[in-house]
Amino acid sequence: MSISTSSRNWWEQAVVYQIYPRSFADSDGDGVGDLRGVVSRLDHLSRLGVDAIWLSPIFESPMADFGYDISDHCRVDPLFGGDDDARLLIEEAHRRGIRVLFDLVLGHTSDRHRWFQASRQDRTNPYRDFYVWRDGPTPGRADGGPPNNWEAGFPAGARAWTFDDLSGQWYLHSHLPQQPDLNWENPIVADEQERVLRFWLDAGIDGVRLDSINRLGKDPLLRDNAPGLPLRQQDWPNLHERLVRVRSVLDKYPGTLAVGEVWLFDQQLLVPYLSDDELHLAHNFVFARADADATGLAAILSEFGDLVPDPGRAAWFVSNHDEPRPRSRFDRDGYGLQRAELIAMLLASLRGTTFLYQGEELGLADTPIPPDRVVDLNGRDPQRTPMPWRAPSVSGPGAGFTTGRPWLPITPDAEAMNVESQRTDARSTLNLYRRLIGIRRDRLRAVTGRHLADVPVEGVLRVVNQVPAGRYETLLNFGVEGAVVPIPDGARLLIGTDRDRRDVGPGRVELGGLEGVMVEHRYSEVHER
Ligand code: NOJ
Repeated sequence: MSISTSSRNWWEQAVVYQIYPRSFADSDGDGVGDLRGVVSRLDHLSRLGVDAIWLSPIFESPMADFGYDISDHCRVDPLFGGDDDARLLIEEAHRRGIRVLFDLVLGHTSDRHRWFQASRQDRTNPYRDFYVWRDGPTPGRADGGPPNNWEAGFPAGARAWTFDDLSGQWYLHSHLPQQPDLNWENPIVADEQERVLRFWLDAGIDGVRLDSINRLGKDPLLRDNAPGLPLRQQDWPNLHERLVRVRSVLDKYPGTLAVGEVWLFDQQLLVPYLSDDELHLAHNFVFARADADATGLAAILSEFGDLVPDPGRAAWFVSNHDEPRPRSRFDRDGYGLQRAELIAMLLASLRGTTFLYQGEELGLADTPIPPDRVVDLNGRDPQRTPMPWRAPSVSGPGAGFTTGRPWLPITPDAEAMNVESQRTDARSTLNLYRRLIGIRRDRLRAVTGRHLADVPVEGVLRVVNQVPAGRYETLLNFGVEGAVVPIPDGARLLIGTDRDRRDVGPGRVELGGLEGVMVEHRYSEVHER
């Protein structure tokens, strides 16, 4: 395998690309993406320069939550191909020097999983205790309501309990009723999930993204949530010993990574998850949901650096299959693409690991979904529509994603917004990303210490990275008016979002509204002056 090793963990300063397999590339014309499709498009990822891919779940699933409801963790769903296709994908990615992360859902299964099917049979079934079953105030009946007031993640506000007529009790589900929560108080559940983790690590993956990991621990007494207090159904201290166990498995497979979806909105709460014997990285939702605003971003970046002294432990991202695409999110005045490109430059500059969601590299917008095509009742279809690979005028209406009818509509912008057209356009968003990722790999991999973030001039975010021979400054004007920003004498332009910019300085850069630049300042050159 052509993957180099160095003393720094491979994921530090890396770029990880998230693939939502249903929507990446369809090799068999059924309208849903699959693993052979992913393999067929790996060269796009090599050219882009990413270090790793993270695939949303590909395991056997009834697809109530599009793969996050797993009925067999150790089998690839036939919709995505087969087990051999997973092996092929790992091999082909590794051949290109791209590492592979799978998405493990440790906290819940599908209601069609054989464990849950057995668990429902009767209260003495050996699998009963794999899930969280309780009586409500009226034992054996639904009419007294559920055991407590916990709410499910979606649909928002729905209760987290469903009454099961077959066995006459309520079961807990943090998400859909089709996703019953596993009972991690039962040590056999931990043993079984450890087996799953080993199964895929033995198959050669390089790490895992751990779904909804803050839900792995809850109040074992199942007490009601109380107003003004943190929710009792998540982020409970008992989850940390569980993460230590997961980590101890990964540690037996050197060089593997665990990145957790810690769906919490206070950076302080991430800190315990990043103890040395727990997660390597935790996705930072405070940053992901931040406005495109210099002062707010500088504060978030600085706070994280103060809370987590090891700069290699940050996991930065702005979108994924659950979140709106940045171009749409920042589009309040028609400048969504400009802000999305500033954020791309910011991500390239940050110390830590950055994650990119498929289509972000094209500057894709969310796709409006006509009511008769809605499939996700939680509103996440617009960011999950298929990757446009080629212009429909040359490849047909499937835009190179499929020859069939796509499971979600193709973006109406596909004629201009597709990989092939952008590849040959030097001014495209795709080529900006490719160059930014190249700069991150070739120059910023060597940075030491944490980055410093501040606002030197109103509206402008500055990120400074040190290398032994100099420093890099990334200057992002989030204001719509121009701004003049001081830069070190001798600093020179590395890259800018304005495709016509040729230089900066001396001593200052005049940024246009919503313009960003990255400059390099080598100490030796100053001394030679
Ligand atoms: C987080 C995943 O990203 C989301 O898509 C899923 O619906 C929930 N976890 C439940 O697994």
